[in-house]
Amino acid sequence: MLRSKAMLPVLLLIFAILLPGMLFAGKLEPIKPVAAPRFNPMSAEKVELGKKIFFDRRLSGDGTMSCATCHIPEMAFSDGEAISLNYPTTRNWRNAPTLINLAYNRYLFHDGRAESMEDQALFPILSAFEMNQNLDFLEEELRSEPEYRKEFQKVFGTDDTTRERIALAIAAFERTLVSQNAPLDRFLEGDHTALSEPAQKGLAIFTGKGKCTECHYGMNLIDDKFHALNVPEHPEFNKDPRVAATRRFVAKFYNYEAFRTLQEDPGRYLITKKDEDWRAFKTPTLREIARTGPYMHNGFFETLDQVIDFFDQGGGSGTIALKPLGLSREEKQYLKAFLLEGLAGEPIAFQFPRIP
Ligand code: HEC
Ligand code: HEC
Repeated sequence: MLRSKAMLPVLLLIFAILLPGMLFAGKLEPIKPVAAPRFNPMSAEKVELGKKIFFDRRLSGDGTMSCATCHIPEMAFSDGEAISLNYPTTRNWRNAPTLINLAYNRYLFHDGRAESMEDQALFPILSAFEMNQNLDFLEEELRSEPEYRKEFQKVFGTDDTTRERIALAIAAFERTLVSQNAPLDRFLEGDHTALSEPAQKGLAIFTGKGKCTECHYGMNLIDDKFHALNVPEHPEFNKDPRVAATRRFVAKFYNYEAFRTLQEDPGRYLITKKDEDWRAFKTPTLREIARTGPYMHNGFFETLDQVIDFFDQGGGSGTIALKPLGLSREEKQYLKAFLLEGLAGEPIAFQFPRIP
């Protein structure tokens, strides 16, 4: 009797230590099929049309850029630049994210300013520093091409090449870009040979000591939230006057009063104007991470080693979102092995379209 009473606090203590680990460990999930929204049902023809439009340079004002200029299929639909490409004579200010697994995101863009793919698709076409196109003109350009008219007729019932339909078709194509059957998925479904031993150790750090699953969890390793990790500004951010023009232009558009003196990327704050969102950015997917560098909203880190060191140090100066982790050199290598090996899905079967 006496003995079991004395055991109780010990048991409670053990439970309290294990509980957070147990809660987080269950949070990673294998990928499930994408569901299309009711207002934009999928069809093979719509996906094909969307793919054509995605690769069509008519989408840019000067006819030099398609979506695939900055979202390159071989690079998991990112562009390999720290700061993404741009419309001639301008400069972009952020990194082009992967378009893989978009369908699992509640928010799109680093600051979450779009909430659906349909809503997102027209932004880059209109953006002065991306494709700089006029939508009335684009509608007429597509309309003047008989093949497009025929395909719009087939997909939508009339041959009207409206901007809304352009966005619907692009989104249908994007919904097919899913990273699936990665070693992590097979491992979570019970195949314990799917991950090498170092990668399994890395997974344990990911869900345990590294605390990565506080934010990177579920099917797509995201939390649909924004965090100010205080990643330093990219060195070119305040050096290149073209970036300053872009930064002021966007900030003015979002009614940021001091847009002329802005020295930083305000992140989510631009959209919400809430103090806690100052320099907060969306938690990105880590799937296909081997192919999506440079990393972070501004491509500040070129390698995963640098990213892991950054998290190990407890993030950038002044952040309250992270704490130092005290990972050993070996633990960091295991973590990297998991990220590289565990999150690389099957290659997406892909054929480049022929543009009319
Ligand atoms: C000039 C380079 C460029 C071009 C061209 C471009 N993008 Fe992007 N794309 C970016 C950058 C940079 C971002 C991140 C911008 C931000 O978050 O503020 C982005 C973000 C996105 C996102 C959000 C992804 C996420 O995870 O939040 C989607 C979706 C997207 N682009 C689709 C497209 C489509 C569709 C087109 C063609 C209509 C296109 N992009 C053309 C550079 C480009
Ligand atoms: C507090 C939430 C949070 C935690 C904890 C966290 N992350 Fe992140 N992670 C983010 C956010 C937010 C970003 C994007 C930051 C930005 O763009 O400036 C990010 C970005 C990344 C990126 C770059 C992805 C890309 O495509 O640019 C990697 C890799 C990454 N995290 C890995 C990890 C690992 C490994 C851990 C654990 C050691 C971890 N994260 C812990 C929120 C978190």
